[in-house]
Amino acid sequence: MGKNKLLRYKEVASFKNVVDMSHFRPNIMYDYKGEWAPFYFGNQNPIVLELACGKGDYALALARKNPHINYIGMDIKGERLWKAAKIAQADGLKNLMFIRGYIDHIENIFARNEVDSIWITFPDPYLKSRKTKKRLTSHFFLHKYKKVLKDDGIINLKTDSHTLYEFSIESVEDFGGRIKENIPDVYGLPNPPEDLMIQTYYERKHLADGKKIKFLSFTLGKR
Ligand SMILES: C[S@@+](CC[C@H](N)C(=O)[O-])C[C@H]1O[C@@H](n2cnc3c(N)ncnc32)[C@H](O)[C@@H]1O
Repeated sequence: MGKNKLLRYKEVASFKNVVDMSHFRPNIMYDYKGEWAPFYFGNQNPIVLELACGKGDYALALARKNPHINYIGMDIKGERLWKAAKIAQADGLKNLMFIRGYIDHIENIFARNEVDSIWITFPDPYLKSRKTKKRLTSHFFLHKYKKVLKDDGIINLKTDSHTLYEFSIESVEDFGGRIKENIPDVYGLPNPPEDLMIQTYYERKHLADGKKIKFLSFTLGKR
């Protein structure tokens, strides 16, 4: 690992807008579980997560636009979060913070019904069939999201991967969830919704490679 990367890994843990949960232990009680809005943000505003946030592009853009919503970006990679957290600090964003940790532990980090909605932005597609459980829309993860998301909470997925897109539709429907919006080519729409025009670091790369960007929104119940 390069010297810069190492320094950022250490520094990111000391940032006020980053909580490091990368050394997760199953039996410890997490301070903020059930209390993120009052204890961390000092309000009762809704909580929206960006999972696999990388450099936090979605969370940053949405936090600037909606100051009365609390945004939390989550990723395991400290160096990417370092960049996101630095931008949030420079912009003085009080409604945005980041968790360094594995999404696999989400139900230990948030309480039942604590999360209003979720964005999953360009997650790794894990194309090999033996790795499908690692896909962030597999049943393994949907069960976890259901434990923290409000009943009618929406999950938004943006991806360049046709395999992940088709897998996600099937996974959600088999799970008993409901697809609310299905857009196979976001930029093929005459007027894409404003929130879908936010572009992440990986999205810009995929667009430059000529890939189509797909979007799904879904709930995990019948509504
Ligand atoms: C392809 S990158 C996308 C980053 C960003 N959303 C973007 O579009 O630029 C996928 C990200 O997911 C993160 N990731 C994958 N599985 C994860 C997991 N189980 N827990 C936490 N982060 C995960 C990786 O660290 C990586 O930063």
